[in-house]
Amino acid sequence: MDFPATFLWGAATAPHQTEGNNLNSDWWARETLVPGMEPSGDATDSYHRYGEDMRLLADAGLNAYRFGVEWARIEPRPGQFSHAELAHYRRMIGTALELGITPVVTLHHFSSPRWFAEEGGWRAPNAADRFAAYVTKVTEILDGVDWVVTINEPNMMAMMVMVQEAMRAGQWQQWQSPTVDGDAERDRIAANLPSPTVEYAQPFIKAHHAVRDIVRARTGAKVGWSIANGALTAAPGAEHKLAEIRYQQEDVYLEAAAGDDFIGVQSYSSQQVGQDGVVAHPDHPDNTLTGAAYRPDALGIAVRHAAAVTGLPVLVTENGIATGDDSRRIDYTREALRGLAAAMNDGVDVRGYLHWSLLDNYEWGHWGPTFGLVAVDRQTFARTPKPSLGWLGATARSGLL
Ligand code: BGC
Repeated sequence: MDFPATFLWGAATAPHQTEGNNLNSDWWARETLVPGMEPSGDATDSYHRYGEDMRLLADAGLNAYRFGVEWARIEPRPGQFSHAELAHYRRMIGTALELGITPVVTLHHFSSPRWFAEEGGWRAPNAADRFAAYVTKVTEILDGVDWVVTINEPNMMAMMVMVQEAMRAGQWQQWQSPTVDGDAERDRIAANLPSPTVEYAQPFIKAHHAVRDIVRARTGAKVGWSIANGALTAAPGAEHKLAEIRYQQEDVYLEAAAGDDFIGVQSYSSQQVGQDGVVAHPDHPDNTLTGAAYRPDALGIAVRHAAAVTGLPVLVTENGIATGDDSRRIDYTREALRGLAAAMNDGVDVRGYLHWSLLDNYEWGHWGPTFGLVAVDRQTFARTPKPSLGWLGATARSGLL
């Protein structure tokens, strides 16, 4: 059960979910337009309070922090780069390094500049060029960064693009984002969405490959991307269906990681695939605040699958649970880490574990599901560490479960 001394132990966040007032982003626009969506507003004000966030993490005993840089701030208009925002993110990286924290930097985490979306977003012919121009600029501030995640969950993004296109074509009455969860009806719909075809994966793969080469040429960082791993399993007799669905939802993205330095695994729950497709999580008292089944064993399934398909070292870039009961968070995480340790004992090369999330933050459309190791007062922005933060830090310090 021992973890190596070099293991990265930390937590993850994303800019749109924590910074606040991400005014030039497509998500900000969406929140004001779509009925029923709560706005992100000030989020957790981490734009100003990132130093406090990182100190809490370091003081607890953790040694790594995954955060993102926000494209909409860095390039608020096409080709117009903000030196002040680049300096801001450089200060974040510098703060992490000063605190002895290994920064894991995400270049794109769901939100894009509004202008990029208006140009046609990821399906526009020049999407990869646009992304590459932004990333080229960002490489100027990445000195000392060893880990870069290019695109967070391209498979979830492909799903979102597919849903948006269906909405525009009038096939959807209202916004039903696969990331906006916590409502039984929406969850049911999300779980039953058809898998985006491989065609939807192509723009992301192209963009990932383009910026991977740029980041490698201009920095010393290891480069990879992070995939939403469904830890899908087959119902009896549904092995073929599992293979088909898993290919479209996951494996096409895992295979595109060939030549990367690592694969980012993001795991929360597990779902079964039956003859007709993915089986929605049935209502159950144990379900988490996002309506997902309580499945701490998902992480072990996910890392084994990602390692088997890619042959790459694994960095767990997200794993966590939406719950109001922090002792459940500790139980879930302990169990998930046991599954991770077992996979490592079986030879899977895992370099680190980044818990989602450091903070109770904005969960893409609503504030209800709390994933944080730290609670945040949304008026004063006061941070209150939960017992799970101390527990994870102690586990990191000892390397023992
Ligand atoms: C995303 C996060 C999100 C988390 C919990 C992942 O899909 O990368 O942004 O908050 O899951 O739902």
